[in-house]
Parts: sequence; structure tokens; C-alpha cells
Amino acid sequence: MMDDLRDKYLAAIASAADEASLEELRVAAVGKKGEVSLKMRGLGKMTPEERQVAGPALNALKDEINSALTAKKIALADEALDARLAEEWLDVTLPSRPRPEGTIHPVSQVTEEVTAILADMGFAVAEGPQIEDDWYNFDALNIPSHHPARTEMDTFYMHRAEGDNRPPHVLRTHTSPVQIRSMQQHGAPLRIICPGRVYRADYDQTHTPMFHQVEGLAIDKDISMANLKWVLEEFFSAFFGTSVKTRFRASHFPFTEPSAEVDIQCSWEGGTVKVGEGDGWLEVLGSGMVHPKVLEAGGIDPAEWQGFAFGMGIDRMAMLKYGVPDLRAFFDSDLRWLRHYGFRSLAVPTLHGGL
Ligand code: DAH
Repeated sequence: MMDDLRDKYLAAIASAADEASLEELRVAAVGKKGEVSLKMRGLGKMTPEERQVAGPALNALKDEINSALTAKKIALADEALDARLAEEWLDVTLPSRPRPEGTIHPVSQVTEEVTAILADMGFAVAEGPQIEDDWYNFDALNIPSHHPARTEMDTFYMHRAEGDNRPPHVLRTHTSPVQIRSMQQHGAPLRIICPGRVYRADYDQTHTPMFHQVEGLAIDKDISMANLKWVLEEFFSAFFGTSVKTRFRASHFPFTEPSAEVDIQCSWEGGTVKVGEGDGWLEVLGSGMVHPKVLEAGGIDPAEWQGFAFGMGIDRMAMLKYGVPDLRAFFDSDLRWLRHYGFRSLAVPTLHGGL
């Protein structure tokens, strides 16, 4: 009788096809009203002798059925997993789907190049606000209120509330105000560059209302124009990857004395400019020895310290190095242009990796 039950359930469990039928079998055999459970309840009506034999046998049967259920459950789960693994097989050797890759903008690329070269020469990178106090943008740089340079720079002025008569803030017209901020912050000696955005109300093939400059400033006890010339020639040669001569022309900036505009050597052939060869010249930056009044505005004693400064257009450098004819295209966000002139994002410019 007990053997019949045993054979019946073990056979049914062995051939169960899924978890649901296993659960039905569990209920039918060892559930509250299952066959085995009912038999166990019948133990009470047996004689002690009968019970001594039937009790352990029923317990053993219950255990055996429970173990069979558990084992079958695991086996079914394993089978299901194997089936899934076989079905959802993935060839990891296949090439991935191509994804459009962005590119690095020439201005970003050139900013990194310029920074890499000048950082190697000991210049730290400094930053300042693009919305600038007019004192930093002008007065501290020895450009007083009625100086013509203020109007020449086509300044964008910020709005002041009605009745507020303080001078308005400006969008910085050059990176030179960062000279003052750096002097105030760090004092002398000092060696910094400041790359960043500047703004002027101007628009044609070589001018956009927003463009980029890099400022350089070196202050120490015995700095001269000779140091400036060496730094710039080193810089241009590293940047253009060929030895580049410079020509200094006397000029005037309120914040330097003496002041010089610097040209680099180039050739003009067939409408294209080649830097570092020929006997033509191209103006690329303004520079000079920092004016004593500017040192004072920065909190540095001009009797003790002196220095050189320069300011250069980054976009201009990018146009020259990478042969971009029109500045306006830099900021048009034309994808075809960006793909053509952009740089691979993994090609980070470094001195040792090549610029
Ligand atoms: N700030 C000038 C400009 O934007 C450029 C310049 C000239 C910067 C001479 C300098 C300098 O530091 O010494 O036109």
C-alpha cells in the first residue's frame, strides 16, 4: 500500500514538466489534505503495534517525496537556464555598431596646445570672470574713463538698474584684466597665462563678437624684453613645429611701456600663408613691459619688480596653423565644418606626443 503511493508519486515527480505540476503533486501528496498527510492522521486509530511500524514508514515516505520534489525543482531550473543560455547566445567577437564620434573644436585644440607649451616653460594657468568690473577691464590697466581705447574696443556693457549710477560691468574685451586679478591674488614673482573668451561688438571675416585670447604675464626682479622675445620665439617654434623668427615693432598700449607688436615670419604663396619661412611678416600679438601703474594696481611695488606681458588671439593661431580661412565658421556650429576641422577626441595634445 505504502509502496504503491511511493511509486506513484516518485514516478509522477520524475516526469513532471514544470514547476506548476510539481506544486500540484506536492499538494496532492504532502499538502494538508494530501494522501500521505491523511494517512499520517490515521495513525491515531491504529493499535500501538501497528503504529510503531507505520509511523516511521510514513515519515520516511514524506521525507523521500519532499527530497524528490526539491531535487526535481532544481533540475527543472537548471534545464531552463541551459535552454536560455543556448537560445540567447551572443557572439562577443562581432564588431560593435558604429556610433558617431564627436570631434574637438580647433579652438579647444589650440588652447590645449598653447597651454601645453607655455606650462612646460613654467607658466601656470589663471582664470578670471567673463563679466568683468570696468575697473579690472580698463582703469587698473591704465585705461582711464575718457581714454580712446575704451571706445576703440567696441565694449559690450551690462545693464544697470535705473537710478544705479555705478559704472556698468562689461563683457571683458581682453584677457588682460586677469593680469590684475592674478597679481592681487599671488603677488610677485609671478608667471601665468590666461586663455579664455573675450567679447567685442565687431563682425566680419576676421572678427566675431566673441573670440579667444591668451594672456601671458611674467614678473620678477630682472625680467627684460629679451626674455619676452625668447619666450615668444620658443613658443611659436614649438607651436608651428618649425623654427619661427619674430619681429618686434614699437607700438602703444596703455598697460605696457615700452610696447611692441610682434610679427612672425611667413611666406605668402598662391594665396596661402606658410609660417616659419620666406620674408613676409604677419602680426600676431601685442606685448611689452608691464606699466608701473599696472603693477601698482595689482598691489606690486614697481620699484622692486618688473615684468613682461603679451596678449594673443587663439582663434587667429588656429586659423594660421590649420588653414581655416574664415573666423565666423568657428562659431556657426555647422556639423560638416566641425567634422572637417575637428580633432579626434583621444588625440590630446602634449609636448611629447606631438602638437
Ligand atoms: N589686451 C590687448 C588687446 O586685447 C593685447 C595686449 C597687448 C595684451 C599688449 C598685453 C600686452 O598683455 O602687453 O588688444
